[in-house]
Amino acid sequence: MMQIWLRQTLSYFRKLSPSMSRQFILSRSTYDDSFLSKREYWLQNYNEKQTKKRMEWLLDDTDEFVQVILSFLSTHLQQTRKDYLHIIDFGCGTSSILLQLQKEIYFPSNLWCLDYVTKCLQDQRHNFIQTCHNSSKCKVYFLTADVTALPFRDRLFDVMIDKGTLDSVLKDKKNGIELAMHMLKEAIRTLAPGGILLQVTDEDPDCRLTLLDKIIILHDNLSVSFKSFGNSYGTECFMFTITKKII
Ligand SMILES: C[S@@+](CC[C@H](N)C(=O)[O-])C[C@H]1O[C@@H](n2cnc3c(N)ncnc32)[C@H](O)[C@@H]1O
Repeated sequence: MMQIWLRQTLSYFRKLSPSMSRQFILSRSTYDDSFLSKREYWLQNYNEKQTKKRMEWLLDDTDEFVQVILSFLSTHLQQTRKDYLHIIDFGCGTSSILLQLQKEIYFPSNLWCLDYVTKCLQDQRHNFIQTCHNSSKCKVYFLTADVTALPFRDRLFDVMIDKGTLDSVLKDKKNGIELAMHMLKEAIRTLAPGGILLQVTDEDPDCRLTLLDKIIILHDNLSVSFKSFGNSYGTECFMFTITKKII
């Protein structure tokens, strides 16, 4: 309830005045949501769930997001002429994004569900088995790992999905920014030329852009854009697209 109230109030302030919204963000520090950055919290959260029911962070409806990915992929395929794509949802939790993609992708792809809690990956696997299409051209992998130290080679992924994961990492009061930078560096390292990192967040764009600038400035092949992207519990969400240009 507290979170919903905070989001709605922030949304109201943002419409009223950007500077007031910044002040409100600063005063948000009185509400302690740092538990969202703790592995123990997510372990307990996923282990407590008696059913394989999904929890979808930030987006009430994921169709538009899946369409954004599919339309990017068709252009990307023409540009890169790849015969195999790699797509990862890092910090996937029990989100259904990759499950939806698996149903709609028509070219050979490796889909990676990654999280540092194994239980949500077991639930993901269960849901994939239930809905698996024999005709699917996708292979799906489930990997327990930390987003700040990705166990992949450089320049692998064509699409990287971060829906709410960087947000969680940033909630760590002491090390949030440092961990977020590790996560972003790993994402950029493993992103293929021509690929995109998509972030869905309810963080104020001023704050997110300030953070992203710190990484973009280190590379001459990155660009960033964002747009308002639907509502979560009555407040605005944003989709950031970080593109690694082909040089
Ligand atoms: C806010 S939830 C978002 C879940 C999912 N992406 C969604 O949209 O529903 C954050 C997720 O990130 C995972 N996570 C947080 N920090 C992580 C880290 N350092 N490494 C791997 N996973 C992490 C949590 O276990 C949790 O599943």
